[in-house]
Amino acid sequence: MFNVGILTISDKGSKEERKDLSGKVIEEILIKNNYSILEYNIIPDEQDIIEKELIKLSDEKKVDLILTTGGTGFSKRDVTPEATINVATKLVPGIAEAMRAYSLNITKRAMLSRAASVIRNNTLIINLPGSPKAVTESLEYIITELDHGLKILTGKDSECAR
Ligand code: MTE
Repeated sequence: MFNVGILTISDKGSKEERKDLSGKVIEEILIKNNYSILEYNIIPDEQDIIEKELIKLSDEKKVDLILTTGGTGFSKRDVTPEATINVATKLVPGIAEAMRAYSLNITKRAMLSRAASVIRNNTLIINLPGSPKAVTESLEYIITELDHGLKILTGKDSECAR
């Protein structure tokens, strides 16, 4: 069972001015897929705070997977992908590309998602969009393949043979 950190990135959410429905959706999908949730935090759209939290979750808490929601759009305060790429040790573009490719079948606005997916040492970090609908569609599409990637990342599987 892999350990996960959920990070909701939202100015309003962090001030409790908005209910964090997207974080809850992530939690439900993870539980359904047998992941263990180690941390669940809500932080504002501040790049240095996001970077510190990603570093804490990966280096100190040593979670296998971090899923973020929010901050991947075009608004001035949206800086989640920049923070994510700044803490990366490797890029994993395919996961974000797959979410966009699949989501384009649902809405052409998926092209506006700037989500990134990266590895920081032994932790996979994936940006999900902000809305509960977009989170459900994106996460349910990719989650079936994450187990294999995480097994290789953590040394539990050594090759891709099927
Ligand atoms: N992806 C899916 N699957 N479904 C959606 O409804 N909405 C898009 C996109 N990705 C959407 C989606 C929209 S409208 C935007 S602006 C971007 O994600 C960025 O979302 P964010 O700013 O909420 O993170």
